[in-house]
Amino acid sequence: MRVLVTGASGLIGQALCDALFARGDDVVGLTRDPGRAREANPRVEWRKWEPRLERPDPAAFEGVDGVVHLLGERIDQKWTPEAKERIMESRRQGTHNLVQTIAALTQPPRVLVSQSAVGYYGDRGAEEVDEGDGPGSSFDSEVVVAWEAAAHELDSSDVRLVVVRTGQVLAKRAGILKEMLTPFQLGVGGPLAGGEQYLSWIHIDDEVGILLWALDQESVSGTVNASSPSPATNREFSKALGRTLNRPAVMPVPGLVLDLKFGREFGQVLRGGQRVIPKRTEELGYQFIYRDLDKALQDLL
Ligand SMILES: NC(=O)c1ccc[n+]([C@@H]2O[C@H](COP(=O)([O-])OP(=O)(O)OC[C@H]3O[C@@H](n4cnc5c(N)ncnc54)[C@H](OP(=O)(O)O)[C@@H]3O)[C@@H](O)[C@H]2O)c1
Repeated sequence: MRVLVTGASGLIGQALCDALFARGDDVVGLTRDPGRAREANPRVEWRKWEPRLERPDPAAFEGVDGVVHLLGERIDQKWTPEAKERIMESRRQGTHNLVQTIAALTQPPRVLVSQSAVGYYGDRGAEEVDEGDGPGSSFDSEVVVAWEAAAHELDSSDVRLVVVRTGQVLAKRAGILKEMLTPFQLGVGGPLAGGEQYLSWIHIDDEVGILLWALDQESVSGTVNASSPSPATNREFSKALGRTLNRPAVMPVPGLVLDLKFGREFGQVLRGGQRVIPKRTEELGYQFIYRDLDKALQDLL
């Protein structure tokens, strides 16, 4: 299979490329900086694309069977007006431009797997939410709604579309786990801002597993949640991390610390969370490798 990946240089993209190569697939990667990307991963055929400014070159799609669209400005930063514009437009305009090229191809790929995020649901307390539930109203929910709407511009074509609403990805290389590791190893880790908020996590192997499953399975289309069937509260997550590292999770981190690091608006998002159930994902037949948080953490750490 020949697969085109956007965001192939990122945390999830790198793991996906490794898995595609391991099964003998070819990978075309779209990046803003082919020189840097080639140095990091010479096996990918890199092509330049500025997602917000232009449509990608149709020549990059020659012989491509499937597309996985991951790119996006990082969310975990201070939400200044400039950062919010980058977070929104890399996804809204970037996805729109990608879909316009795909829709105009004489020989389009069979499938577009378009990344999304569980931030779609907004802060939902302890309520269980699945793919059938509606969006929240915070800025990150607005971004995801616009991101998914841009992907759905493909609906009138013959290309199968799978939208993958992803939870917090647990990986060694980067992401939430790497951020939390140092304070926990130093014995000063603990639940954030009270710890009652839910964290819908997914092991990187399942994230990649769901992206590959969505690429391969002709029967899968529409929205699927990519988060484990056992979301944990922040307190439960901290305890599990403390257990795995043999360090007690005794130092609660006050919400004010989040505000100082990320600003008030994103700090507020981190005080909340969502308890996401991958209902459709399991109904459609995906079998999670890691359903249990302790097992996922033990594997990664
Ligand atoms: N990691 C998670 O826990 C998680 C959870 C839910 C959803 N997601 C979503 O999944 C996607 C991939 O996540 P990730 O963790 O792999 O992200 P990542 O490591 O930050 O990589 C994202 C990639 O997007 C491109 N990019 C970054 N900023 C951009 C901008 N302003 N304009 C255009 N392109 C930009 C970069 O590629 P180039 O520099 O090569 O152009 C980068 O490699 C993101 O959209 C993210 O929001 C991630």
